[in-house]
Amino acid sequence: MVNQTNTKKETILKLLYKASGDTVSGVRISEATGISRVAVWKHISALKQSGVPIESRPNGYVLSRPEDLLFPFCFEKPFRERIHHFQEVNTTMDTAKALAREGAPHLSCVIAEHQTKGRGRLNREWVSAEGGLWFTLILRPPEPPHLVYIYNFAASLCLSKVLKQLFDLKVSVKWPNDLLLGGKKLAGMLSEMETRGDMVQFLVVGIGINVNNDPAHKEFNAVSLKNVLKKKVSRKHIMTQFLSEFQNRIQDINCPDIIDQWKKQTSTIGSRVRVETFDRIHEGKAVDVDETGALIIEDDRQQQQKIIYGDCFHA
Ligand code: BTN
Repeated sequence: MVNQTNTKKETILKLLYKASGDTVSGVRISEATGISRVAVWKHISALKQSGVPIESRPNGYVLSRPEDLLFPFCFEKPFRERIHHFQEVNTTMDTAKALAREGAPHLSCVIAEHQTKGRGRLNREWVSAEGGLWFTLILRPPEPPHLVYIYNFAASLCLSKVLKQLFDLKVSVKWPNDLLLGGKKLAGMLSEMETRGDMVQFLVVGIGINVNNDPAHKEFNAVSLKNVLKKKVSRKHIMTQFLSEFQNRIQDINCPDIIDQWKKQTSTIGSRVRVETFDRIHEGKAVDVDETGALIIEDDRQQQQKIIYGDCFHA
C-alpha cells in the first residue's frame, strides 16, 4: 500500500481492527482519517469489494472475525515488517520470487487470500479458495542447492507441531512434505529456488493449508481444519506460531536430526505407495527416507529405488 488512497484504506482498516469486533461510526473514521463521510463510504465499499470482511451496520462499520485477519499490522514485530499481504495474486510463489529478486530479506512472507493460479508439485493446479492459508516464505539459506531440501522437512515438522499445540490434532507427514489428517490432505508444500554460482540466492517455500475452506468440493481426498474441528479457526494464530517456530528451528539447522524426527511422524514409511515423477510412475513399498530426504521404495522384485522428487500416494 503506497499511494494516498491506499494509506487512507490502511488507516481505516487499522481503526476497525483495533476496535476488536466493535462497531466504529462513519463520523469517527472521518475524523481519524481527515476525509468526508462519503469518502469513507467509498473506501469501505472498495475494501468490501476486494474481499475484506467489513459489515455495514446502522451505526457504523465492523470488521468480522478480526482474529483471522492476515494484514501485516495484525502481527507483532519482527514479522510485521516482513509480511506482504494480498487479496488476490496469481500465485504467491511468483510474487515471492519477484520480491526476492528485488532484495526482500530472509524470512519475508507473501500471503494471499486467494490465488487464481495456485500451483502444486509437478505443475499441478492447487485450488486456493478463500478461507485457506496460502503463503510463500522467502529464505536465503547460506547453502549450496543440494542442501536446501531440509527447509521443507523443517517446515512440515513445525507446522505439525503448531497444529498439535493449537488444536491438539495429531497429523502425520507424507513424503515429501504433505500433512495428512485422518489420511486426507490438510496441507501441501512446494519449494523453488534460484542460484548464483554454486550457492542458493533464494529459496521460496510455498505452503498451502486448508483452514476455513471446504477443499473436498474439488479434491475429494482433502480436508480442512474447519471440516474436522466443526468451526472456523484463526489463520493468524497458525501463522504467528508457525513463523516463530520455524524461525527458531532453522537458526541452527541440523539435517540428520530433522530427518530423524520427520521419520517418527511419517505414515509413508511402511506403506505401499505410488510415486509420480515428471517422466514415470514408481510403485512399491516405502522402506526409508535417507539423509538427503530421498524416498527409498522396494518394488515387487525386491529392487530398491531412490526417488528424489515426486508426488506420493499411499495405497
Ligand atoms: C502440493 O502439495 O502439490 C504443493 C502445494 C503448495 C501450495 C502452496 S499455496 C501457497 C503457494 N502458492 C502456490 O501457488 N503454491 C503454494
